[in-house]
Amino acid sequence: MNLLVLGCLWGDEAKAKVVQHYLEHHDVVVRFQGGANAGHTVYLEDSSKLVLHSIPVGIICEDKTVVIAAGCLVNPETLIEEIKELEFRGINVMSRLKIYSNTTITTDFEVVLDRAREAFLSSGSSKIGTTGRGIGPSYSNRAYRTSILFEDLFDRFGLAEKVRALSKDMNPRINSYGAEEVDPETVFEKLHKCSKTLSGLMVHPNYVYSLIERQNNILFEGAQGGLLCLTNGSYPYVTSSSVHPASASISSNIPMKSINKVVGVLKAYPTRVGEGPFPTQISAVKEEALRKIGNEYGATTGRPRKCGWPDLPIASYVGRLFGIDEFALTCLDTLCEFSKQTGSIKICDSYEISGRKIICSESASASYLSRVKPIYSEFDLGCDCAGVSRIEDLPFKATNFMNIIENATGIPVKLISTGPLRENVIVL
Ligand code: IMP
Repeated sequence: MNLLVLGCLWGDEAKAKVVQHYLEHHDVVVRFQGGANAGHTVYLEDSSKLVLHSIPVGIICEDKTVVIAAGCLVNPETLIEEIKELEFRGINVMSRLKIYSNTTITTDFEVVLDRAREAFLSSGSSKIGTTGRGIGPSYSNRAYRTSILFEDLFDRFGLAEKVRALSKDMNPRINSYGAEEVDPETVFEKLHKCSKTLSGLMVHPNYVYSLIERQNNILFEGAQGGLLCLTNGSYPYVTSSSVHPASASISSNIPMKSINKVVGVLKAYPTRVGEGPFPTQISAVKEEALRKIGNEYGATTGRPRKCGWPDLPIASYVGRLFGIDEFALTCLDTLCEFSKQTGSIKICDSYEISGRKIICSESASASYLSRVKPIYSEFDLGCDCAGVSRIEDLPFKATNFMNIIENATGIPVKLISTGPLRENVIVL
């Protein structure tokens, strides 16, 4: 069984915890999009916290192989830092991490351009609020066909030429945003140095296909979330890769029919970092209370996350269009505690747009989401479900909340997360 786990909202849905739950039944874990913009937090056996950015969560299990497929971005320097940190904590990475030869490399050129452009736009409405990891420029270069690929790192002369070409293309753009040009020699030296560490990790683009042929069970690990999808999310306030399950097939170079099931990770309340419309955003005082209870600060950038009321039209949109077979409902304990402390919560059952009532959003684009008016009902979710691991022990109010989601979306909830630790889950 090949399973795909993806986030249904604006990222930070606790996907890593859900991936961790499914690890047991899979041999290989594949990241298929995004780069070091992701921040996947897991708690290890000894309850210590680990945040992964580029390396798939499967690395925490000694018997799993983990793969970074072609649709991802690899920043060799930050990847090596991540590898070192894992190895320092006793996790063996070098024999288990594989990287597709045709994966795009992020260099200082892309990182500097990303940050310079965001700084330049910071006064206007076109600022995206990126993570500053060079994501947009790296994917643009891929489309522009000027990228350095992972395999290029191991061809010294070819690499020098590609860096020179990239410099000619990127430095004038970096300059136009008022930032200092990046020295191509330094970029080359850094990449060449990194290539010595990374040389044993490269695999051909048929790697995952060949594992499937040999009856391995694959777990595809999505990054970011459905509403940050470049094509179907809240464009232009999105990331620069497609988050849709179909992108796992393209990125890993496997037929779409090889993906047997899609689990959508639905956080009990939406959160977002960065710019862009957020229809159900909670007013300031209550938002701050929820942020505190849920510790809603970005794992990659530390930015405070905006928090919203549960949004059923958007859950239905992602559920239908991304082909979600079942939901994993996360952070339910946080929302229950919030309701207990502050009174009832609101649930957005529908949107109103141009006098029409919408129960499944028709779009997630920024222009559409900025025009919808959320219609709410009140719900008392105040109860204590932290750490509950059996459905019989889940308070009635929490079960009711889950039923509301199932009825509105037509998608069953098959997993509930009731806390950060691995054992804080209810399997249905
Ligand atoms: P970029 O991916 O760094 O270009 O940022 C584009 C948008 O996606 C910004 O709003 C980021 O805050 C958001 N974003 C990117 N990665 C993540 C993530 O892993 N979690 C939440 N938001 C993210």
